[in-house]
Amino acid sequence: MTGLAKADFGDDFTWGVAHASYQVEGAWDLDGKGPSIWDTFTHGGGRIKNHETGDVACDFYHRYQDDTSLVQELGFDAQRFSISWPRVQPDGRGAANAAGLDFYDRVVDDCLAKGVEPWVTLYHWDLPQALQDLGGWTNRSIVGWFEDYVGIVADRLGDRVKDWMVFNEPCSFLVVGHLLGYHAPGTRSLRKFLAATHHVNLSQAAAAQVLRAKVPDANVGTTHIVTPMRSKRDTERDRRAKASIDVIANRIFWEPNFGLGYPVDDCPLIAGIDKHIKPGDEEAITVDWDFVGVQYYQRQLVKPWPVPKLRGVPWMSHDYRSYEITAMGWEVQPDGLYESLERFAAYDKVPKLIITENGSAYPDTLVDGRVHDDRRTAFYRAHLAEVERAVADGLPVHGYFCWSLMDNFEWAEGYVPRFGLTHVDFDTQQRTIKDSGYWFQDFLGAQSTVPA
Ligand code: NOJ
Repeated sequence: MTGLAKADFGDDFTWGVAHASYQVEGAWDLDGKGPSIWDTFTHGGGRIKNHETGDVACDFYHRYQDDTSLVQELGFDAQRFSISWPRVQPDGRGAANAAGLDFYDRVVDDCLAKGVEPWVTLYHWDLPQALQDLGGWTNRSIVGWFEDYVGIVADRLGDRVKDWMVFNEPCSFLVVGHLLGYHAPGTRSLRKFLAATHHVNLSQAAAAQVLRAKVPDANVGTTHIVTPMRSKRDTERDRRAKASIDVIANRIFWEPNFGLGYPVDDCPLIAGIDKHIKPGDEEAITVDWDFVGVQYYQRQLVKPWPVPKLRGVPWMSHDYRSYEITAMGWEVQPDGLYESLERFAAYDKVPKLIITENGSAYPDTLVDGRVHDDRRTAFYRAHLAEVERAVADGLPVHGYFCWSLMDNFEWAEGYVPRFGLTHVDFDTQQRTIKDSGYWFQDFLGAQSTVPA
């Protein structure tokens, strides 16, 4: 692989790093913050590797200035972070918590002072527990609660924040959190999954409207994980299994907002979603996004037999023998990123694509002040080559964000998988830029700070 050059991605291309509130902030109960469903889930015991929690995480709440300095040092244009709803509204409704808003105000100002664009995600999975107690995303009233919360944040930050993402990966918190139960809130119910999915789709559109009304020059998008599906054989049974899992992992979260309705014909299992659709929803749910955020990690291999207890949902698995595997057990397949970009670009309602997450976890070790994470650098180079190809082929790709700036709390996997360009020692909170971080510094043309 040679010849990767920043200039080939064009002038109108944003280079950034991403992280999320619960995974980095810590300060879980400080300065008036209310509990989130992830506080409840991690404190409940037995559901996270090594019983770890995000109580302290990377302590970004106190160290944000140093962390944004790292973004600047590595030469990135932008920092994508999320707002914790219960830090802003401790019970999810009613008056704002001034200290919570002040925190995000400081983060935004610090980014701008350092020449780093703040890209804000409004929801990255940490729902206020008080709302979960009322049914959370399964309660249709949440659309209005979410609108109010988005309005509060937009009123406070909209004079300086121009780039907004409404949700982070609805698929993950809806499938993994509501249908499979491995993430908060930990329910295993098709009925709850379908109700919550429709209300999230309505909330996407409602929030986009609030942002447009309050921040006239806003660049409004949302983010989706894309999991391309493949199967070993091409029988009718395989094709049907692939089409049906593609609905539950991908299309059900995108297409209603593109004005295309729910793809029930390809996955009869979701037919029950009709019960939650009210007159007028189909129009209300449509959004004219400025961009869609594509988050790509892996392809999945579909097996045409059903998951026990979830009749009609086919298994997904991996092909461990044919591909390199990351510490998450995920296959490395860079051309799946091109495939994902091409797929999104084919929708009429997608004018612009930003890769809002891409990255990999490896068991990094810190030796004499350095982390030689060559596999991560190779991963990034291979994926960037696919992005470069997409740009050259005329696909409307205008940005790339690495997951993640630094090692952080990887949900049910705790702190073991390390995704950062920067190593974090969770005992001392010491940050150390990894070789992959220095690779980006060089690629982006920033001044080298590689230790002698
Ligand atoms: C997607 C999620 O948005 C992020 O929170 C997570 O850490 C990464 N994928 C890696 O799994």
